[in-house]
Amino acid sequence: MPSSTCSAIDHGICIGPLTGAVGAEISGVDLRDPIPENVFEVIEQALLNHLVIIFRDQDISPEQQKVFASRFSDLQSHPFVESMNGIPEITEIVKEAWEVENWGGNWHADVTFLPQPSKGAALFAKEVPLQGGDTLFSNMYLAYETLSDGLKHLLDSLNAIHDSGEVGRFSDEFDGMRAKNAERIASVHPVVRIHPRTQKKALFINQEYTTQFEGMTPEESRPLLEYLFQHSVRPEITCRVRWQKNTLVVWDNRVTLHSPISDDFAARFDKTGFRRVMHRATFTGEKTS
Ligand code: SIN
Repeated sequence: MPSSTCSAIDHGICIGPLTGAVGAEISGVDLRDPIPENVFEVIEQALLNHLVIIFRDQDISPEQQKVFASRFSDLQSHPFVESMNGIPEITEIVKEAWEVENWGGNWHADVTFLPQPSKGAALFAKEVPLQGGDTLFSNMYLAYETLSDGLKHLLDSLNAIHDSGEVGRFSDEFDGMRAKNAERIASVHPVVRIHPRTQKKALFINQEYTTQFEGMTPEESRPLLEYLFQHSVRPEITCRVRWQKNTLVVWDNRVTLHSPISDDFAARFDKTGFRRVMHRATFTGEKTS
């Protein structure tokens, strides 16, 4: 059973929402086994409803993770960091015990600097500390819906530039991450995008990669962007996933932000903190509209 109460049991699967805004734990499924189509449909619908779904105690291999993640989408490797040896579809994300920051340790959606940003991801906890290193998620439908009508109207017509920044930032500070030989990438996306399955609008900006509105300078853009960055991560539209070894989390990258919390204070002050190793299978991208 998940730690949260089942709001629905469907095909023997229990779906327990984590908060009023985002996230649900799913139990009653063993991801090592082939998942029948009707059961997968329940899981996919749970992802559409809750945006982030959490499976506990899944002792799966990278190959089994890849098979499950491929049910949602084709997979892609990260443009700037090398994949796991032998499994190009999986990126191993490592924070060594002496490192203070988690990789990707700011609020962001993945690879939004690509012309077709990833649709989602399945992240598996291979090695986690007893406490700390949780990941926060926010609901970007609610970020949009809780704006005033006036601001929604303005944002509906804007595009924004998403810039990867220097390629080295994805690996230079992390002993466990190896750089690919690649060039910096920037792309333009609508500030408000429509989810192709739900047809609902969501805010599509993030503090890691969104640098300015199209047709405005970074300085002109900054005040409104700063407001939207803060608005997008208000506690009431977020959830916090506490990792355990063998937890698998799937998120919809089109309508969520996430942020792994860099709270390894032992590493920061005593230099011997925790090692954290995650395996990420990233879904291919699609055109934003
Ligand atoms: C990421 O995909 O940005 C990493 C998330 C995490 O390590 O919790």
